[in-house]
Amino acid sequence: MTSVGIDAIEIWTGKLRLDLPNTFAPVKGDDPEKYTKGLGLHNSSMPDVYEDIVTMGANAAKRLMERKGLSPQDIGRIDVATESAFDNSKPVSTYIAGCLEQVFEGDFHHANKGERKFACVAGTQSIDDAYNWIKAGRNRGRAALVIATDTALYARGDPGEATQGAGAVAMLISEDPSVVELSTEQGYGSADETDFLKPNQQFPSVDGKRSMKVYLARMREALEDYESVAGRTHPDDITYIPFHTPFPGMVRKAALLGYRHMTRDTEIEEELAAELGRQPREEDFDSWDAYEEAIRGYMDGLKDTDRYRDWYARTIEPTLTLSGQLGNWYTGSVHLARTSALKTAAETGKGLTGEKLLVGSYGSGAQAEIHAETVQEGWKEEIEALTIDEQMARRYDLSFDEYEQVHDVHNHDKEIDVEEFTQPVGEFVFAGWGRMNERKYEYVD
Ligand code: CAA
Repeated sequence: MTSVGIDAIEIWTGKLRLDLPNTFAPVKGDDPEKYTKGLGLHNSSMPDVYEDIVTMGANAAKRLMERKGLSPQDIGRIDVATESAFDNSKPVSTYIAGCLEQVFEGDFHHANKGERKFACVAGTQSIDDAYNWIKAGRNRGRAALVIATDTALYARGDPGEATQGAGAVAMLISEDPSVVELSTEQGYGSADETDFLKPNQQFPSVDGKRSMKVYLARMREALEDYESVAGRTHPDDITYIPFHTPFPGMVRKAALLGYRHMTRDTEIEEELAAELGRQPREEDFDSWDAYEEAIRGYMDGLKDTDRYRDWYARTIEPTLTLSGQLGNWYTGSVHLARTSALKTAAETGKGLTGEKLLVGSYGSGAQAEIHAETVQEGWKEEIEALTIDEQMARRYDLSFDEYEQVHDVHNHDKEIDVEEFTQPVGEFVFAGWGRMNERKYEYVD
């Protein structure tokens, strides 16, 4: 059986930074801990005036191709996942290929290009498409480039404004991958929902509180569906669980539900029973409300047990480090969570080869997907090649006024002139509009 998965990862963050506790919270009149402790966010990445989803995606992809010594003919597919597209016909992948052709010998004329849309889950769906293409034997020995790129901006004053972010994750999907192999088994939880949507508008219509409930409901369905094909999951068999992370506080809720589900009818439930009692079972209650109340009580107790806290610190916390400094990158977010976990393992000298990850992706509208991954031998070398720490440290720290200017620059309905905050070096930049109203890009040495 061919092993297929992620062979390489590169990350490109927007070059500006909004400090949430120190810059955003005071202007909003909020306690900074609402952001750092409640949401779990410290900084959001923002795109400079010459950056957008194409430049960030192309810059991540260029670095990935250079590092892996690839040329365009090694790539048979370029799939871009985004919620921030600016064209209803021409896919972002064509713009990115055009950028890459400015700097690499050869072209991508024989690569299949597309754009995937299903809110934040589209990045994982693009990996899926690449996986299926390779498994079907249609790849002619070539690899697929999957790029998840977003400028996740909300209307000013929307509660979601605190969870913004901008950046791209480029991933190479190939046979005999170096980072992780993907499981054949997958689970889905999918339903027609209106929690978060952008009906031909740039900034989302969001029902924030409801979106959190929908996330949890669909994730639970996906886990049950996954277990129906892969068998029961047990917390001790899984090293990390990277979730889609709109903000770390969301994952805190998902992890607690997941742990309760995974430990039901296990020795862990028995061991915790002395402290908490057994988990409430629906059949033991006369009404749904009474059952739900009992569940809430159990979960309140569970989250304070040493057993749960240890598990959370080991399995979940390492997935959240990048997100807390970068914000929500929509389609790239779950891929940042995976990277964050692997990066923490590399930094702490933890061996991971052969270990299992359970990956929980989510897109509003709404769909969750769960699959497993097995870490491969080359993971450490790949992760150590990342430059995300240097990129984060170099970001320009915006004042609140500057943040509002940057937000306006990227607002499609506004036209304002703002000087760039950073100097582009060795990267693609937005260079204005062409005759057909297309966006134009150039490479700056
Ligand atoms: N100290 C510590 N904690 C504090 C605090 C303080 N001073 N003040 C508030 N908090 C806590 C709150 O208790 C809350 O935590 P709990 O939910 O655990 O109780 C948390 O901080 C957030 O506070 P609020 O609920 O008051 O925050 P809010 O109402 O202003 O906004 C939000 C929260 C609704 C999630 C908003 O950020 C939002 O709309 N975000 C966009 C939608 C979103 O991300 N939804 C997630 C699921 S959908 C998805 O995942 C797809 C996607 O990417 C968009």
